[in-house]
Amino acid sequence: MTTLDHKPVNPEVDAIRHHYEVGNDFYRLLLGPAMMYSGGYWNEGEDLRAAHDEAQYRKLDAFITNANAVGADKVLDIGSGWGTMLDRATTTHGVKKAVGVTLSRTQKEFVDSLGNDKIEIKVESWEDHRTDEPYDAAFCVNALEHFVLASLPPKERVGRFRAFFKQCHSLIKVDGRLVLHMMTIEQPKLSRRLIDDLKFLQREEFQGCYIPHTNELVQAAESLFEIIEIRNERETFSRACRAWLANLADRRDEAVAMQGEEVVQRFERYLDIFAYTLEDKIFNNFRIVLSRNA
Ligand SMILES: C[S@@+](CC[C@H](N)C(=O)[O-])C[C@H]1O[C@@H](n2cnc3c(N)ncnc32)[C@H](O)[C@@H]1O
Repeated sequence: MTTLDHKPVNPEVDAIRHHYEVGNDFYRLLLGPAMMYSGGYWNEGEDLRAAHDEAQYRKLDAFITNANAVGADKVLDIGSGWGTMLDRATTTHGVKKAVGVTLSRTQKEFVDSLGNDKIEIKVESWEDHRTDEPYDAAFCVNALEHFVLASLPPKERVGRFRAFFKQCHSLIKVDGRLVLHMMTIEQPKLSRRLIDDLKFLQREEFQGCYIPHTNELVQAAESLFEIIEIRNERETFSRACRAWLANLADRRDEAVAMQGEEVVQRFERYLDIFAYTLEDKIFNNFRIVLSRNA
C-alpha cells in the first residue's frame, strides 16, 4: 500500500481520500485490470466477471464516440479515477492530449506509473481547474455524485450543480460535448432498512455526497448546455457492483490481509447497497450527452 501524508486538509477532501486512498493494490483486487470504478456495457448473456473489462472498454469507446472526441486535440476527464478513460482515449482513439482531475494522490501515482506521456493528472478539485486552450470535449463518469454536499439546503444544491455546469461551459469549446454518467434518485418508499443504508452511504462511506433528482441536474444545465441524449442505464452500474462484490468474495482473505476486516466490510456493505438500490429502481444511472452552447 502507498504511504501518504495523512494530515487533515479540509473535510470534503478528507472524505474523498477516506474512500479513494485505500490503496491501489486493494482497488486492483476489487476492480480488476480495467481499473474502472463505474458502470459497464455488458452485452446480453455475457458473464459479469469474465466480460467485465470488455464491458468497461465498450462503455469508454461509446462515450468517446458520443463526445465526438475521436482524434481530438485535447479532452478532460473530471474525477478521472485510475486514468483508464484517458489511456483509452489516447491509445485507441487518437486523442493527442488527455487531462484528468482527481482529489486522490494514490490515483495520480497509479496513472503516472502507466508512463503515458499524453496524459496529465492534476490533484485538484473540479472547480479549481483552469486551461489556456478550451477542451474539445469532457467526461465526468460517476464522479458528480461527490461534488455537492448533502448538508446544503435544497436551493443551494441546484446552485452547486449549476456551478459545475458553468465551470464545464468555461472549459469546453462551443459545440464541444460533455458526457456524464450520473446517479440520480427516485422518490423511494422509505423502509427502515433503506433509511439506515442511505445514512450509512452519506454519513460514513461517502460523507456529504448527494444523489440528486434528475430534474435538479436538468435545471442546472439549462441554457449552458443542450441535452443531446439522456438515457437511464441503471443496470450498467448494478452489474459492475455485483462483479466487484464477487471479486472481493473470491479473494476476501487477501483483501483483509491488505486493508483489514473493517475496510472490507465497509466495501461489502456499500457495494451491496448500490447494487440493490439500482436493481430496485431507487437509484438511476443516467448517461447524459450534452453540447456546449455559445
Ligand atoms: C467513482 S470514482 C470514478 C472514477 C472514474 N471516473 C471511473 O469511472 O472509473 C470518482 C472520482 O471522482 C474523484 N473526485 C471526487 N471529488 C472530486 C472533486 N471535488 N474534484 C475532482 N475529482 C473528484 C475521485 O477522486 C474519483 O477519482
